[in-house]
Amino acid sequence: MAAPRIIMKLTVTAIRKEPGDVLVIDLKHPRKPLLPPFEPGSHVDVHLADGKVRQYSLCGDPGDLSRYTIAVKFEQTGRGGSSWIHQTVCPGFTLPVSAPRNHFPLGKSGGPALLLAGGIGITPILAMARALERRGRRYELHYFTRARALTPLLSEIQSALDPANVRLHFDDEPETRQDLQTLLSTRSSDPQLYYCGPPGFRAAVDRASAHWPAGTVHFEAFQPPEHDAAPPEPFTITLRDGTSVPVAADTTALAALRGAGVLLMASCENGVCGTCECGMLEGQPIHRDAVLTRQARDSRFIPCVSRAKGVLRLDL
Ligand code: FES
Repeated sequence: MAAPRIIMKLTVTAIRKEPGDVLVIDLKHPRKPLLPPFEPGSHVDVHLADGKVRQYSLCGDPGDLSRYTIAVKFEQTGRGGSSWIHQTVCPGFTLPVSAPRNHFPLGKSGGPALLLAGGIGITPILAMARALERRGRRYELHYFTRARALTPLLSEIQSALDPANVRLHFDDEPETRQDLQTLLSTRSSDPQLYYCGPPGFRAAVDRASAHWPAGTVHFEAFQPPEHDAAPPEPFTITLRDGTSVPVAADTTALAALRGAGVLLMASCENGVCGTCECGMLEGQPIHRDAVLTRQARDSRFIPCVSRAKGVLRLDL
């Protein structure tokens, strides 16, 4: 289970609009000159006025701790967090923000990195590219969007990164398009793959990289993957002490466990932050999260969204 996270009340010091309905927000500590350090790929939890929590990647320079920078895309069909931020947040506003956490870290190997971003998925990828550039490591960034005019953070990419390392792909400019299957079909120089983007983009990269060896593919998600529309079915969780916890069809495993007195931390309750992750000992899980790697799916479980068939034994 994840440890509780420190919450800081940060001040919004600057906001700018970017193409694609994106707000880029700079946050500073009201008294301290420096914020806690963060690794590229990290995100923070932003606590909204209604008690909800949303995760945003830090897209600024990990070498500049005077501020954190997040980019928030307005999601028309989202759960209301981005809409609240777009309508409410302004310079001088105070936002409760957690200390950074990273479940999308850059590997330590000195080999090349292949960075793929779809739309607003550029946020953690940009921080990674900045860090790789500073460390003098080989990388190639491919950024996929619908149109140049709808592409957020483009000017920042062009000013902060070596253009030789950047490939831009716009759906409406056929000469820039790149087929993922072709891009990922061969692996030269033993690269590591990092990608982030909306569910359709992630699914396409996942398929195209299925032949890459275990441990070479890493991703970050802010929305759970799309699932079939089959209605959820009841199942049962058993705990280490033998207690059985029934999970009704209309309840999450997280709610059922809490109802049975199991103390579990949670944050997004949407399968994307990993806060509620727990160990799994036996059973047939139906993983519906966007956090666990293929390897972790054999022994870990995300109870806020995932379900199971029959009986699932958890390490709780
Ligand atoms: S609370 Fe975020 S993944 Fe479960």
